[in-house]
Amino acid sequence: MLRIGLLTSGGDCQALNATMRGIVKTLENNCKDGLEIYGFEDGYQGLIYSRFRVMTPHDFSGILTRGGTILGTSRTPFKMLDTPEADGVEKVPAMVQTYHKLRLDCLFMLGGNGSTKTANRLAQEGLNVIALPKTIDNDTWGTERTFGFSSAVEVATECIDNIHTTASSHGRVFVIEIMGHKVGWIPLYAGVAGGADVILIPEIPFEMKNVISTIERRMERGSRFTIVAVAEGAISKEDAKLSKKEYKKKLAERTSPSIVYDIAREIEATTGRETRVAIPGHTQRGGEPDAQDRVFATQCGAEAALGCLAGEYGYMISQIGGKMTRTPLGEVAGKLKYVDPECDLIREAKALGISFGDE
Ligand code: F6P
Repeated sequence: MLRIGLLTSGGDCQALNATMRGIVKTLENNCKDGLEIYGFEDGYQGLIYSRFRVMTPHDFSGILTRGGTILGTSRTPFKMLDTPEADGVEKVPAMVQTYHKLRLDCLFMLGGNGSTKTANRLAQEGLNVIALPKTIDNDTWGTERTFGFSSAVEVATECIDNIHTTASSHGRVFVIEIMGHKVGWIPLYAGVAGGADVILIPEIPFEMKNVISTIERRMERGSRFTIVAVAEGAISKEDAKLSKKEYKKKLAERTSPSIVYDIAREIEATTGRETRVAIPGHTQRGGEPDAQDRVFATQCGAEAALGCLAGEYGYMISQIGGKMTRTPLGEVAGKLKYVDPECDLIREAKALGISFGDE
């Protein structure tokens, strides 16, 4: 009998269910001695408080296309791992206890950066853990791809497409805020796919004068509108010079809800062109997974299950050089995968005239 635990941790994404289906289907198909499945509710909280559902392979049927997570999720910040819960429960010992109480052979953890750090800690405590790279942000170190990213790019691209028609009718500038936390993968891909004129990402600090001159050049050439795709973590050259502490203080003192509003205000004031803000927000994490995510999620699930059946643990399923592989948890933990400002896509985007605000 193989006894497994499953949990989904951190911000959700479109392909969590598709990934769990991949794990369970592969185990069911290859495990000759029977399978017992424990689905922990709301991420690590379920493991801490022993909140779980005993599930069957049937529960994972028909969920390939369903967004969100059938288990529920929550954020359990890694930096608070050794701080007891409000009711005094010690998180790490409680999770270890739940694992042993259920006599689990393996815990599958679907999560992003912080969640993988916690998975690494649990592995260090002696638990058999396999992590799977979830996040729309695509910022997980040790893998070229994460599931959720492609679907989020689709949503953000559709938003830019929709804004294009109204921007062009009204002759407006639109500043669109795109998710991605501290990195610029989604705005870069959606910006290129949606034909944005300016793309601002955290990895390339911008100067407003460059953004403005791009808009003015377009106006001079007779373009009625401009689309500016801005990463939620975009940063100006001036702010990039501040220390982490100074920047945090500046953000805390900001009176507008986010950077896109400041950018839009400055564009309108300087160019005189009517400027609007659009924020797709959490729609980028919602809806169905796209075909690419369904395939990658299924691959991740199958590889994780095969690893478990081989009795191999302590890694994150990853893709490197287009090949499915494994990256040790200890190598992933605590690192972010940033966009390389010198990468081909940025070089090509610049070649066709997209401004990144740096020059
Ligand atoms: O990590 C995914 C993500 O959607 C980020 O892009 C974004 O910064 C963050 O989560 C939003 O978090 P929350 O759902 O907690 O508001």
